[in-house]
This record gives sequence, structure tokens and C-alpha cells, in this order.
Amino acid sequence: MFSNIVSALLVPTLLFSSLAQAEANVDLSSVGPLTALSSKSTICNVLDYGAVADNSTDIGPAILSAFTNCAKAGGATIYIPPGSYSIATGVVLNKGSAYALQIDGLITLTSDGSFGGNAIVIENASDVEVFSSNGLGAINGQGYITRLTSSGQNARLFRFISCSDISIHDIIFVDSPTFHLVFNEVSNMEAYHITVRGPNIGGTDGIDVTCTDNCYMHDIEVTNRDECISVKSPSNNILIEDIYCNHSGGMSIGSLTADVTDTADINTVSNITMRNVYTFQCTQMLMIKTFPGGTGATGYVKDSLFENFWAYDTTYALDIDQYWESHTTPDTGAVALSSLTFSNWTGTMDNGASRGAIVIRGSDIVPAVDISLSDFDMWTVNGNKVINQCKNVYGTGYCAATSTAASLTTFTTSVTSTVAPTGFVTPTSPAWGVAGYGTTDPIPVYTPAAFWSPASSGVASGSVAASTTASVAKSTSAAVSSQKTSSGVKVVATASSSSAVVKTSSVSSVKAASAVTKSSSSTSTAAGVVVSSSSTVKLSRTLASTSLSTATPTPTTLVAVASSSIASIPASTSVAVSSSKVVSSAASSSTGFGGFGSGFGAPSGSAFASGFGGGFGTGRVTRTRLAHTPSASAKPVSTAAALGESTSGEDDDSCDGDF
Ligand SMILES: *[C@@H]1O[C@H](CO)[C@@H](O)[C@H](O)[C@H]1NC(C)=O
Ligand SMILES: *[C@@H]1O[C@H](CO)[C@@H](O)[C@H](O)[C@H]1NC(C)=O
Ligand SMILES: *[C@@H]1O[C@H](CO)[C@@H](O)[C@H](O)[C@H]1NC(C)=O
Ligand SMILES: *[C@@H]1O[C@H](CO)[C@@H](O)[C@H](O)[C@H]1NC(C)=O
Ligand SMILES: *[C@@H]1O[C@H](CO)[C@@H](O)[C@H](O)[C@H]1NC(C)=O
Repeated sequence: MFSNIVSALLVPTLLFSSLAQAEANVDLSSVGPLTALSSKSTICNVLDYGAVADNSTDIGPAILSAFTNCAKAGGATIYIPPGSYSIATGVVLNKGSAYALQIDGLITLTSDGSFGGNAIVIENASDVEVFSSNGLGAINGQGYITRLTSSGQNARLFRFISCSDISIHDIIFVDSPTFHLVFNEVSNMEAYHITVRGPNIGGTDGIDVTCTDNCYMHDIEVTNRDECISVKSPSNNILIEDIYCNHSGGMSIGSLTADVTDTADINTVSNITMRNVYTFQCTQMLMIKTFPGGTGATGYVKDSLFENFWAYDTTYALDIDQYWESHTTPDTGAVALSSLTFSNWTGTMDNGASRGAIVIRGSDIVPAVDISLSDFDMWTVNGNKVINQCKNVYGTGYCAATSTAASLTTFTTSVTSTVAPTGFVTPTSPAWGVAGYGTTDPIPVYTPAAFWSPASSGVASGSVAASTTASVAKSTSAAVSSQKTSSGVKVVATASSSSAVVKTSSVSSVKAASAVTKSSSSTSTAAGVVVSSSSTVKLSRTLASTSLSTATPTPTTLVAVASSSIASIPASTSVAVSSSKVVSSAASSSTGFGGFGSGFGAPSGSAFASGFGGGFGTGRVTRTRLAHTPSASAKPVSTAAALGESTSGEDDDSCDGDF
């Protein structure tokens, strides 16, 4: 079946951009803090500034005091030791650079606190690392209480505003009354090993980001019922990969409005790559949502790539709506969509007849152009057909229209398939996708265990940033060096060649427990570390601190940053070695976690017991992670049933647009 309705309305001439696939071009060597934790060795322990781990004393003033009186000058770490803390007042850490915030305890928001919209804000800062060394770093918003009491407390849990060269990793965010983690106009940012456990309700975005340039977000799991990760304007050059969206709204770009009167406030989103996104019973896999209005094209979403999306029973798959929330007037202009590539989407949708794999409602005024749709190998859970729908979409594949006409006409097309794509394989339900959280009960902080351990971030379990210096176990070859940091040992390889292999032997003196790369496409080989064509690549590998003295050389399985081809090491490959600090390992109180420090086995939560390790591509074999099609033990539940079919699966966007 094929129906094609072309209206007579002519729209302005639009030139197609080149057919080269546009995407993010993130420089992975420039994301994250400028200086190592080892250089942030002055410890500003909040217990020395008035904090008490009694889950009652307000930690807010203590964090601010530790910052103002100790950390702000740089070279320091604000340290929140393991324990339970209460926060009742919002903290804004303004300015400052070269500091870290080490959260090794649980901070719980009071339901009636005075937060001014955010619990903890880091603003106008650079070279900041926010992390947990023991996997217990968590912020719990107790949103269920605010919902039960209608207290009106609406603090985001953590927010960065106007910051550069920052990272946040290994932190757990639980049950925010509103958004969980927000980045506003940051650059050179890295966010990873983030776990969000939100309620089953709208208005609870996992992560909202605007990035002015060069951001890398990866290895993130979000459970909630609003956006998983939402990219907003202005944003340019963000790589987002290896993301798990559990019962979530799904990934999004927007909302973006064309109806702006302030010309300095035009929406701009470009060079975004989202890939390796795994969704379980989400509202959509990806939504791009804009409002009509303005005069002509007001702002854009362009030059972006969305590939390797996977769904188990999603409501919408690809959903682009330029009349978001049924705003149809004034239909005078639109945020222009161009040069967007969607490729390799697999899995199942709930009702392919109502909401096919591709549902694009493009603008009547500014049609979407240069849209590439390929390899949507998706099928429906319910019913026996999939209807892809395109309105005003020009480009290639599926329901997009090709045109070389100077003026593009508006059209609506729907293409119906009554058989599953050739070779379609029904996905099995991932173990992480079981149903559970509601809206009015507490959400557990540490169960199930987070997918990632600090050990795999280059941070040793239970360690405290320390200042003792010791010699570094050096590697034997010129290709790789080891670097002790305050909390572990990193293997650092810096190559300037286009494609290099660092032989295993060169790091054989490093007894590695686990490893992590900072790259996107990776390949592992027993032969060594492969360095990509980007000019500088940082790899890190962590040693348990206690193993340093006895460092038994163990041939390591190296984790690689790969280029497409593996070649031998050019003679010119050089390695930068940094000096270091020794680790002082504090007693670890890792309740709820097993296996830290020695490779991080499957979390004791057991739901993940199968499917770990090596499940992705060929690389990063030692990073603890889920396979994306683990055991079928979890019982499939209809998304539509979970949502209530009448909602049409549309997420609650009521908290969007507040910045
Ligand atoms: C964005 O994509 C365009 C088109 O491919 C490319 O010319 C440009 O260099 C990219 N910009 C960045 C910052 O990656
Ligand atoms: C901390 O106190 C709050 C009350 O504000 C309570 O709901 C929460 O369960 C307590 N958390 C811990 C870890 O004891
Ligand atoms: C951050 O810097 C901007 C620009 O100077 C300023 O307007 C803003 O007030 C600063 N933030 C804080 C919390 O002081
Ligand atoms: C398609 O995406 C899936 C993840 O959903 C990935 O496992 C697979 O390798 C991708 N296929 C190609 C050809 O890239
Ligand atoms: C996925 O979401 C459900 C809530 O519906 C929760 O019970 C489950 O623990 C989540 N999985 C993970 C890994 O957080």
C-alpha cells in the first residue's frame, strides 16, 4: 500500500546541502578537567566545615564554606566522606577552577528545603571534576514526598552553568522532584557512569544539556518517564553514546520554538551524534520537537547523526514533530531541519499501525531537507503492520521524498509494511528493564547496583584523594606510560600518529584491574592499544592502590581506541608521562557493591548477572556493562498499557523551556 497526497502549496527554495554525512566531531582529548585529581590534593573535608553525617544537619552551608575557604583557590578537592547527609538549602559554587568535588556519601534533599530551584550548582567554573570514588556518591531528591505533599519544592539535583573543561562521573541521582542533572552552556564536558533513577512520571528529565562546543556523554543509564537525555538550544558538537533508557521518555532534541522575538535567542542545534542507544519500553527512541512560528526559518537543527538505536517495545520510535504539543499556529515559520541521518534502528514498537518506526511531521513552511533514513529494521509487537509516515520530508529512504525541484511542495506520505523486515530478529527483554518504580514510594538508591563502578573510571574503590608522593611504576616501552593519580594508577597513552598499536608488552608492568577508554569507536586486541587518528588520545586504566607495591606484571588485555585499521606503531609515536601521587586507600564501605578493585564483577543485584562484558562491538572488553540483549528473564509488559493508551505516549514536557 502506498498513498501520496501532494498539496499545491509552494514553499521557498531550499538548497540541499552536500550528501556527506554530518555528525559531531568531538575532540576526546579536550573533554573533561584540565588537570588530574593528583594535582587537586588539598583536601577540604566538609566535616571540617560544619557538616555532620547524621542525615539531619544541613550540609549546604558546609559545602559552600569548604568551597569558599578551601577549594576555590584551586589545587583542592572538596571531600564528602561516606555517610548520610541532609541538604536543606541550595548551594551555588560560583567561579573557581582546578578543583574537584568528591561525593562518597548520600545527600538527601529535605522535602521542604529552600533550594531556589537547584540543590547544587557549579557555575562560571573551569577544570572541575565531580565524582564518587566508592560508588556511593548519590543525591536523592525524595521527589515522592514532594509529590505526596504537593510541597512545591522543585529543586534540580545538580546543575552546571557556564562551565568549561569539566567532568562528572560515577554519581547516582535518585527521584528528583523535577530534572535530575542539568548542563547549561558548558563546553569541553565529559559525563559518564551516571545513573538516574527517577519516578514513573513526566517532568523528571534525566539529563538536560546545552553544550556550546565539544561535549562527550557516555555510559549513562536513566530510568524515569520523561526525557532520558534531552539536547536543547544552543548546542553544538556533542557525542552521546552507550546510553540506556529504561521506561523513559527517550532521547530528545527540544523543545525548540521558532516563535522568538529576540533574534539573539534563535534556536541552534548542530553536529550532534547519538549512537548505541538502548531503550526499554520508552515513549520514544528519539524525538525532535519544535514549535511553529517566527518569520521564515528561525533557527535550526542540522548536521547530526542518530545511529544504532535499539528498542524493546517502544511507543514511538523516530518521532519528529514540528507542531509539537499540537501547536499549529502561527504557522509562519519553523526551526529548520536539515542534514540529519538516521541509520540502523532495530527492535520493536508497540503498535506499528498507529505509530510506525518513522513518524515525521515536518513544517509546511520550511520542509525538512537532506534527511537520510536507512536500515530501520523494526517490527510491531501488536498488530501486523507498520505504517511509516512522512510529512514534508525531503531526502532519501522510506517515506522521504527525493526532489531536485527549486521549490519544494508540501506532501504527506504513508508507507505500510505488512511483513517484518528481512532478517528481523525479535529482541529479548533486557534484565534491566523490569517494572518497578512508581511515583509515590521511595526509590532505592543502591539497588539494583549501578551498571558502572568507579574502578572502571580510573578511580580506585574507597580511596581518598591524598597527597603523598611516590615513584611511579613506569612502563617499559615508549608507547605507554603509567601515571599514578590520587586515587589509582592510570595508563596514559598519547599518540600523535594517525594509527598506532601499542604492544601489550609495553604495559606489562601494570597490573590492571579494569580499564576504560575515552573513545567512541573502539577495538580491543590482545596485541595492544590502538590509537585513533585523532591527535591525542587518553586511555586510562586503574590499579587497586594496594597492588602497587607488589605489582606483579600481568599481561593485560588492553582496551583500545581504534581507528578503522590497525597498524603497527610508527616509530614516531610518543608518550606523555605525568608525575604522580601515591594512593592512600581508605577503608571502603561499599555496601551494595561487589567486586570493586579487582575487576568489578557483575553487581550483586544479580539482575545483570548475564550479559556482561564484551557484549558491545569488539572493544572495551574490560569495562563492566550490560549487553543490550541480555536474558529474557524479565517479563515483557506492553508500553501502551504501562502508559495508558490514551496518552498517545506523549511525555509531559511541562518543565521544559525553563532555561
Ligand atoms: C559540523 O558538521 C558540518 C557538516 O558536516 C561540518 O562541516 C562541520 O565541520 C562540523 N562542525 C563540527 C564542530 O563538528
Ligand atoms: C534521611 O532522612 C530523610 C528524612 O528527610 C528520610 O526520608 C531518609 O530515609 C533518610 N535517609 C537515610 C539514608 O537515612
Ligand atoms: C556567573 O557569571 C555571569 C557573567 O559574569 C554572571 O552574570 C553571573 O551572575 C555569575 N553567576 C553567579 C552565581 O554569580
Ligand atoms: C546496529 O545497532 C546495533 C545496536 O542496536 C549494533 O549492535 C549493531 O552492530 C549495529 N549494526 C551496524 C551495522 O552498525
Ligand atoms: C528499570 O526501571 C524499573 C522501573 O520501572 C526499575 O525497577 C529497574 O530497576 C530499572 N532498572 C535499572 C537497571 O535501574
